[in-house]
Amino acid sequence: MIVATSNHDSFWWARKRGAIFIHMESTFPVSAGAQPDTYGTVLATAYDGLATLYSGGAIGACKHWGVSHISAGEAALFVGAGAAAECLEPVRRGVRCHILDSSPAMLRRAHRRLHRSKHEGHVQFHLGDARALPTHKMYDAVVVHFFLNTFCQQSMPRVLASLLTHLRPGGLLVLADFAPVSPGTETATAGSFWQTLYHDLPMHLFSQWTGSDVHPPHDLPAVACSLGATLVAQRTFRVARIGPAWFGSWVMNK
Ligand SMILES: C[S@@+](CC[C@H](N)C(=O)[O-])C[C@H]1O[C@@H](n2cnc3c(N)ncnc32)[C@H](O)[C@@H]1O
Repeated sequence: MIVATSNHDSFWWARKRGAIFIHMESTFPVSAGAQPDTYGTVLATAYDGLATLYSGGAIGACKHWGVSHISAGEAALFVGAGAAAECLEPVRRGVRCHILDSSPAMLRRAHRRLHRSKHEGHVQFHLGDARALPTHKMYDAVVVHFFLNTFCQQSMPRVLASLLTHLRPGGLLVLADFAPVSPGTETATAGSFWQTLYHDLPMHLFSQWTGSDVHPPHDLPAVACSLGATLVAQRTFRVARIGPAWFGSWVMNK
C-alpha cells in the first residue's frame, strides 16, 4: 500500500498496517490516481539495472559526482528522482533531501531504498508534477538527473526555467544527462553519428513505454547558461569507463 498524506492520523494508521508512507506536502499537486503511472512497477524495478547495463556504470557515476557538491544542512530538491540511489550519500552527510517524482512506483522504490538505509526519516517524498511546483518553494540546490531528456527541444527550456525559479540566489543547479553532441571535423561528425544513435535507442524505447518525447540530444549546459545559470564545475563520463565520454554532469550557480 502506498499512502500520500500530510495528515498525521492517517500517517500512524498507515504505518501500523505496514504501509509505505509518503509524506506529501498538501501544496504539491497530487498526480496519483489522477493520472496513470507511465513508469509502473516493471519499469521502476528494472530502471537502475538497465541504466547500469546501458552505460557501463557511467550514469550512476555522473549522478554521484554531481551531488557531492551539495553541502551538509542544505535543502536539495531531486526532480524526477526515480529510485533516487544518488540521495543516499548526501542524506548520510546531512543534506536535507526532497525527492519528487510523478510515478508512485518510482517513489516507492526510492522510499524502500532509503528505508533500508535507515535514513528515510531525513528525507521528504513528494508525489507530484515537477512542472507545477508551488511558487513559494525554494531550495539551496535543485538536482535534475536524466529528467530533462524526457521533454522535447521546445518544452525542455520552459521546464528548466521554471525549476530555476525554485533555486535560491547563489544556489546550485546540479545536472546530469547525455553529453551534448558537438559536430565539427569529419572524425567528430562520425563520432556524433554514433553518439546520436546511442542516445536515440533508449529515447525511442522510453517513448514507446512512457510516452516521453523523442528529440535530438539536448545541450543542457548551454540552455541553462542562456537562462542565467553560470557553470561552476563539469565532468564528462566514459561509457564503461573506457568508451567515449557520452555522459556529463554540470554544477551551476544561479
Ligand atoms: C528517465 S527517469 C530518471 C530517473 C532518475 N532521475 C535517474 O536518473 O535514475 C525520469 C523520471 O522522471 C519522472 N517524471 C517524468 N515526468 C515527470 C514530471 N512531470 N514530474 C515529476 N517527475 C516526472 C519519471 O517518473 C521518472 O522517474
